[in-house]
This record gives sequence, structure tokens and C-alpha cells, in this order.
Amino acid sequence: MGAGGTEIAIAGAGYVGLTSAVCFCEMGHRVRLVDVDPQRVAMIRQGQCPIYEPGLPELLNKHRNDRLQVTDRLAEAVKGASALFVCVGTPASASGAPDLSALRRLLRELKALPDLNQTVLVLKSTVPPGTNRMAYDSLRGTMPVVSNPEFLREGTAVHDFFHPDRVVVGSPDEGAALLVAGLYKGVDAPLLVTGWEEAELIKYATNGFLALKISYANEIAALCDALGADALDVLKGLGLDHRVGSQFLRPGPGYGGSCLPKDTRALIWKGRRAGVRLDLLPAAQRANLRQRERLLEALSKLLGGLAGKQVAVWGLAFKAGTDDLRTAASLEMIPWMLKQGASVRTYDPAAQEAFARHFPPEKWPGLTLSPDQWSALEGADGLLILTEWETFRTATPLAIRRKMAGRVVLDARNILDPEAARAAGLQYRGVGRGRRAPLR
Ligand code: UGA
Repeated sequence: MGAGGTEIAIAGAGYVGLTSAVCFCEMGHRVRLVDVDPQRVAMIRQGQCPIYEPGLPELLNKHRNDRLQVTDRLAEAVKGASALFVCVGTPASASGAPDLSALRRLLRELKALPDLNQTVLVLKSTVPPGTNRMAYDSLRGTMPVVSNPEFLREGTAVHDFFHPDRVVVGSPDEGAALLVAGLYKGVDAPLLVTGWEEAELIKYATNGFLALKISYANEIAALCDALGADALDVLKGLGLDHRVGSQFLRPGPGYGGSCLPKDTRALIWKGRRAGVRLDLLPAAQRANLRQRERLLEALSKLLGGLAGKQVAVWGLAFKAGTDDLRTAASLEMIPWMLKQGASVRTYDPAAQEAFARHFPPEKWPGLTLSPDQWSALEGADGLLILTEWETFRTATPLAIRRKMAGRVVLDARNILDPEAARAAGLQYRGVGRGRRAPLR
């Protein structure tokens, strides 16, 4: 795109804001990124990436002090910008409703700024239906408002930015919507131009459906375990039907992260507010919780109870490729095991420090954070694998068997080969990898 790039402002240097900023720079735009946290601003200016995301540090260093400028002053960021992307956090509040206070603060600040009629306000943060309309009203129509939801997965956010399944722009102001769509020129994806509420709902409906799909895969896996069938074959056969699709059918420890759980809750909350009872999403939530209970029951059964047992846990992050612990299975399952009287030794290549902040070992007797995956196994009666990091995938069952005191392995990500694990003398259990007795 080169010299034809556009001046863009982005508010919020978190996960979505920072990724979008450097990716827009890569596409040739000039971006001014603004954040209220001066420490974060200083860090980014020095080229230090405040979040763990593959590919992000490289792009940050390529563009900082050139196409990317970083500031803590909104007025400076927004001056002369064609669009202001809002990427501030919208965490869940106690009721399940997203907390929009960061957005409201931004709108208040915007109202105090002069001459914004040349700038389009673009809401990229995930916000409940009605929020774009609220923003437009609150600005008294002084700025066009466009909803442009993000579909970036943590761990592959940079790739996802350049290769989206679709670009959605929603606004009653078609000119403004097309201006925002034009910023993605060069991205090969279908463009969907909608109204505000439709764009807002596309985001929620997508994350809600992904939660449903994962929960369905987990329930089918539970059935497979009980019937002695292999869920990976069953789910492969299911996913090959184009009407279903093969993605997001991997059974595991239940979905986690900052988005699927939060957005599912928000959609249920919105339904309640709108007088519409949604039955499927609460069922997905219950199935997700049940999946974690099921794994704990299985581990306890395999070990003959947890009291006095030593359990190694490989993986703490909610998925591989991130140090994010939000609604990770580890946060629920490890304290439960400790309360049952087990001692737990954990290892995660990225999320260990974050985990120690949640559960300082000095306050949790029985919890040890190991310096590497092998020392976590020393003296262990059982191993629980919670995150699908490559370094766990490539560990040989024989090496695992030799390090452990016991033989039990509960592989909640199905990353080890069951036959190889059993051949190495491990008492292996995956998720839905039930085995029929051989024909006699
Ligand atoms: C999710 C969506 O996938 C993104 O499209 C969206 O932009 C993002 O939320 C958001 O709203 O910001 P993310 O939270 O990064 O992305 O994580 P996912 O890759 O969706 O995984 C969510 C959870 O489901 C993880 O715990 C993962 O391990 C689990 N999962 C995923 C499974 O258990 N099985 C699967 O087959 C897929």
C-alpha cells in the first residue's frame, strides 16, 4: 500500500489494539496508538512487547518510531486521523454484562475534543448490541460510528489479522463503513457491510457457536470414553461433513480464555434483558464446567484418590501460544487438587510467572513451580497435561515414564500417542480415547 496509507488512531494498546496497530502499519498505514497507562506507552516506545504473542515483537520493532507512534494523549493520537479504532477492554462484570467503563471514559474525553467530524469512530472492542448506537448518541452525531468486530485468536493474532474469514463493517452510514473497509485493502476476505446491531451480534454469535461446538465435542468424547470408542475418529467423521466443519471439534479440558466464556455470558445476559430465553448457551456453559469435573474425577480414580499424591501438571495457559490464564482449566483444577490433599508441581513455558501471581506458592502449601517440564515429573504419581505446547507433544512416553515415580498420565489435550504411551508402561488416559477390548 506504501505511500497511499492512511492516518489511523487506535485507542487501547492491549491485545487487539497493539496487534491491529502493527498490522495496519505493515499494510502501509501510519498509526498513532494511545493508551492511558504511561508505563505501557513507555514500554512499547522502547520496543518491549507487553504481551506474549508470536510475531508481534518483530512487527513492533519494525514499525516503532516510524509508521507507529505511541502516546498517552488522546488528542495527539486523534488529530488528523481518518479513523479512531477503539480497542479498550470490555471485561465481564458480576452480572455477565460487559463492563463498558473504559469505552464511556473514552467517549467523555472525545466529547471534549474539537473538530472530530473528519474522523470515523470504529468500535473494535467486543461490545453488546446497542453499544455503537449508544456511542453515536452520546457523541450527538458529531462522528460517524462503525462497528468492526475482531476475530483474532491469541497465539495466532498476527496471522488472523492478515487472513480473516471475513471483514465485517456495520453502520447506517455506508460511506463511513466503506472507508473503514478500505483500510483492509489487500486482505483477501469477503466483506460484509451491515448495520450496527448486526455487526455486534455477528461477533457474539460466532464466539457463542464456537463454545457450543467445543462443548458438543467434549460430550461426544465423554460418550466415546464410556462406550470404548475413539472420539478422534468420530469427530473427524463429523467434521468432514461440510455443513459442520472440522475446526473447534478438539475435545480437551473445556474452553477457556478471555473471550468464549465472557461472550457466552454476555449473550445470555443480553437475551435475558431482551426477554428472550436462550437455552443452548447455558447448556454449553454447564457442559464446560462438567468437563473439568469429569477430568478431576478421572484423575482421582486413576490415582486411587488424590490425598497424599504428587501430581505433575504440564501446561497452565488456557491454550498453547499464549501466557494468558484467563478462565484457564488450571485455575480451577489445581486449587481443587491441592484442597483434596495432593501436592502439585507445575510447568508452563510461558504462563508460569502469571500463575505464581494468582497462586503464590508461599500461600499455597503443596504447590511447586518447576523450572522445567522434566523436574515437574520427579517423584510424581501422576501427570496431567492441560495445555498443548509443542514441547510436551514431543516428549517421548518412555522419557516420561522414567522420570515419574508412578505411571498415571491423564492427557487432557490428546497430544501423546495412546499406544506408544501404553507400550512405555504408562497408565494412559486421553479425552475420548476409550479403547475397545481386542477381538478374541
Ligand atoms: C476466540 C475466537 O476464536 C477468536 O476468533 C476471537 O477473536 C477471540 O476469541 C476474541 O473474541 O477476541 P481465543 O480466545 O484466542 O479466540 O481462543 P480460541 O482459539 O478460540 O480458543 C478458546 C478455547 O477453546 C481455548 O481454551 C482452546 O484450548 C479451546 N478449544 C479450542 C478447544 O478446547 N477445542 C477446540 O477445538 C478449539
